Amino acid sequence: MRNAAVRAQPGLFGWSTPGPAPANLRGGIAAGVPPGSVPLPTAAEPVVAEPVVVDPAVGLAPAFALDAELSRPLPGSPTCDLIESENLVALRRLLPTLRGRVAAIYIDPPYNTGSLGFAYADRTTGRGAAERHSSWVAFMRERLTVARDLLCDDGVLFVSIDDNEQPRLRLLCDQVFGEDAFVAQFIWHKTRKGKALCRTARLVTEYVVCYTRDRDLLTKRGLWGSAADAELPNPFFHRPNRPRDIVFPPGSIETNMASGDYAAGVYGDPEDSLSVRVLAPFSVRGGRISTTLQLHGRFRWQQSTLDEELTGGMRFSLRKGKFRIVFFRSDGHKAPPTLLDDRSGIGTYEEASAEVEALLGWLPFVYPKPVSLVQYLVRAATWDRKDAIVVDFFAGTGTTGHAVAALNAEDRGRRRCILVTDNSGKVGEGFVADAGADGICRGTARRRLAAAFGGGDAGRPVLPTALAYWRPA
Ligand SMILES: C[S@@+](CC[C@H](N)C(=O)[O-])C[C@H]1O[C@@H](n2cnc3c(N)ncnc32)[C@H](O)[C@@H]1O
Repeated sequence: MRNAAVRAQPGLFGWSTPGPAPANLRGGIAAGVPPGSVPLPTAAEPVVAEPVVVDPAVGLAPAFALDAELSRPLPGSPTCDLIESENLVALRRLLPTLRGRVAAIYIDPPYNTGSLGFAYADRTTGRGAAERHSSWVAFMRERLTVARDLLCDDGVLFVSIDDNEQPRLRLLCDQVFGEDAFVAQFIWHKTRKGKALCRTARLVTEYVVCYTRDRDLLTKRGLWGSAADAELPNPFFHRPNRPRDIVFPPGSIETNMASGDYAAGVYGDPEDSLSVRVLAPFSVRGGRISTTLQLHGRFRWQQSTLDEELTGGMRFSLRKGKFRIVFFRSDGHKAPPTLLDDRSGIGTYEEASAEVEALLGWLPFVYPKPVSLVQYLVRAATWDRKDAIVVDFFAGTGTTGHAVAALNAEDRGRRRCILVTDNSGKVGEGFVADAGADGICRGTARRRLAAAFGGGDAGRPVLPTALAYWRPA
C-alpha cells in the first residue's frame, strides 16, 4: 500500500540492526516514481529495513509516524528525517524531545514577495501592504518562538530573506531572541546576472540573518569561516586606530632582542605613525620580555581584548628593529566574512538550480538554495559538534538535508538533520515544472535526497545517509 504510515514505537527512527525487510522496502523507493519523471536508482543490495531503537533520546515517535515505504534505510549511517507536515504543527511536536538540543537551524521561509506564479503560496493573505506584512510577521513569530526554544544556548539560527521582509524579520528576531542575540546579517551573492531589464538597481544579493541565544557563549566557541594558519603572523598595530596605552604582562611576548635591560622611549622609526612609545623600562631574558611592557601606540585592540586573547593562549612576538608586535592565532580558524560568495566556495541560484536538475532530471522549483551556501552555514555553526542536530522547517527541495550529508561526508560527522516541509506545490499551484503528483515533500525533497545520498545501482552511497520519512501521528 503506497504511503502507508507505519506507526513507530517510541524512540524508533532508524535502521541499524540487520533483519527482514518489509516487502515494500525491498526495491528501494523507486516504486513511488511519478509518471514521466526520472526513476531513482534502485538498491544494489537487498535493503535491510527493520526499524530499531538507535537513539531513544531523540526519537520522533510517537509524535510522528514513520512511513517505511517512503524511507530508505542505511545501517550505521547518520539519519536525515524528512517530516511531511505543516511546520508549526511539527515544531510543537518536536519541542518536548528537542528543547535546547538543536545546534543549528537554517530556514528559508516565504519571502512575502506578493509575486504570483512563485512556486508556492509566497504571499500572506492580507489585503493592504500593512496587513500583508503583519500577517507575515504573525506567521513567522509563532514559528521563530518555537525555533528559539529548540536551540541550545550557543545554538545558531540562520534565516534567508530578501528586501521584502528583511527589516521586519530583524525587528521580529530582536523581539523573540533579544537584541543582544544578533550575530550578523550575511549578504549572499545570489546570482551572477540580476534582472536584465531592471532600470534602477540590478539585485544580485539577498540576506542571511543570524541570531543565537547566548552571544557570549557563541563568541567563546566562534563560528567557523575558514582555517587560520597558526604560523602566519598578524599585525598587532593598526594605523587607522587612535593611539592608546596597553600593558603586556611579564613573559607574554617572545622576542629576538638580546637579553638585557632597556630604557623607556620611542622605538621604531619616529617618523612612522606606527612607532611606539615604551612608557617604562623593561627587560629581556632568554628570548622573552620578562617584565611588564607598557606601551602607547596605534594598536588593533583595547586592553580588555588583549587580556581575553592572552587568557585564550594567543602567542605574541616582538621583532627588533621596527619594534613591531605580531600575534599568532591559537584557535585554528577565522570567523566567516559577512559577504557569502564564491571566494568562500558559495554558489548562486544558478548553481542551485543545476544541482537539483542534475539529481531529478527536471527543475520543479524556482529558487532552491545552493548546497554550498547551507553547507557553509551549518559548518560555521557545528564545526566542533559533529554529532549536532540540525533543523530546517521550510525545507522545500531538501537542500539542507543534502548539505548536512555533504558536510558529514567531508568531516566524518554524524550530524542528524531534521527537515519539515508541507506537501504543497502541485502543478497549478505555481510550480515551474511538474513536481510529480506527489507534491514538494514526497515528490521533490524525498526523491532529491534519495538521489543525492545515492547507493542505488551505482553501488556505494555517495553521501551515506539514511532517509526516514515521517508524518504527524
Ligand atoms: C523558499 S522554500 C524553501 C526552499 C529550500 N531552501 C530549498 O533550497 O529548496 C519554502 C518551503 O517551505 C514550504 N512551506 C511554506 N509554508 C510552510 C508551512 N507553514 N509549513 C510547512 N512548509 C511550509 C513551502 O512549501 C516551500 O517548499
